[in-house]
Amino acid sequence: MQKIVIHRPGGYDRLVLERAAVPHLGPTDVHVSVAAIGVNYADCVVRMGLYQSAREYVGWPITPGFEVAGTVAKVGHDVTDLQPGDPVIAVTRFGGYASDVVVPRRQVFEMPRGLTFEQAAAFPSVHLTAYHAIVELVRPRIGDRVLVHSAAGGVGSALVQIARLLGCHVVAVVGAGHKVELAHALGAHAVIDASRDRLWPTAELHAPVGYDAIFDANGVKTLRQSYRHLAPTGRLVIYGFHSMLPRGTGRPSWWRLAWDWLRTPRFSPFDLTNKNRSIMGFNLSYLFDHTRRLTDAMDQLIRWVADGRLRPPPIRSFPLAEAARAQQLLETGTTVGKLVLVPPTADRTESR
Ligand SMILES: NC(=O)c1ccc[n+]([C@@H]2O[C@H](COP(=O)([O-])OP(=O)(O)OC[C@H]3O[C@@H](n4cnc5c(N)ncnc54)[C@H](OP(=O)(O)O)[C@@H]3O)[C@@H](O)[C@H]2O)c1
Repeated sequence: MQKIVIHRPGGYDRLVLERAAVPHLGPTDVHVSVAAIGVNYADCVVRMGLYQSAREYVGWPITPGFEVAGTVAKVGHDVTDLQPGDPVIAVTRFGGYASDVVVPRRQVFEMPRGLTFEQAAAFPSVHLTAYHAIVELVRPRIGDRVLVHSAAGGVGSALVQIARLLGCHVVAVVGAGHKVELAHALGAHAVIDASRDRLWPTAELHAPVGYDAIFDANGVKTLRQSYRHLAPTGRLVIYGFHSMLPRGTGRPSWWRLAWDWLRTPRFSPFDLTNKNRSIMGFNLSYLFDHTRRLTDAMDQLIRWVADGRLRPPPIRSFPLAEAARAQQLLETGTTVGKLVLVPPTADRTESR
């Protein structure tokens, strides 16, 4: 098999394609022959050496990657409900940037109908993240006003679509003019182009009494204002900190990180109580063992795809050997939808 290996943290040159033996197949494991791999911003953070759960679960060297699509190559003794050749998607707690993965059965799901392997590989992480944020944490009511930052990216696109199908009024924020059209197409009621519009005064026009939920993975750049723009009973969901990180240069500035860490707001429990606001945070990579939660979320998401209520985001593909190019592009902050890697032997044309 082939896989991308990072031996120590750093820039794009740390992503090295290597040959390796396929990992041992345990009795409850599934060996997936990978046709496509989803690229997530978190993979870049892993490469930079700043992803805490990667350090805790794997250390160095590490193969990044949270999600793949492909076909079952082999199953362990105790796996009776999958056959070699079945098209599947799988979530991987790291290790996904590879031509083959071996994962526990509970991390493997039927491939959503009608998706290509590339669309399917791009599906699990961002949709599970968005589902957890909005369905599990926020539990919105019909008509709730929600604001989604980075709304044309991977998680942002999924949040806009799921918020819409739950009946929310969605205000999408994007960082560049070329992202506006996609945010509208995903179903946003209003789109704020932060490169042109004044973000918060415009956001206030769309929700004069504040937002019932705001989804923020920017970190220091917007957290304070996101909190201030919550309505009474509003919830701020924090799930990333990308504004602390470099845009396309590959290596973080330690001074900037330290400065941004110091500037990151610490919220007051007294203020939270008196203003009836809540702050929630999560990192899915620590929830892989919550099997029931994972399965329920994926079952619902796959149903929404089957019903045509959830559509795959636009995809741009790169060969696995060009993982560095994909990560560099993602870190420029200019991409829309999802980026995908394709291992050399994969049959990319097939779909169900
Ligand atoms: N907590 C969890 O379990 C979890 C799971 C998955 C992802 N995440 C987080 O969710 C966020 C989105 O992930 P994604 O994979 O879907 O990425 P993405 O949204 O496709 O790309 C990142 C977007 O963030 C914005 N951005 C702001 N500052 C940036 C910077 N310094 N470098 C790059 N982009 C920057 C850009 O959009 P605009 O300019 O339009 O704002 C960019 O397009 C990331 O912070 C990721 O770590 C968290």
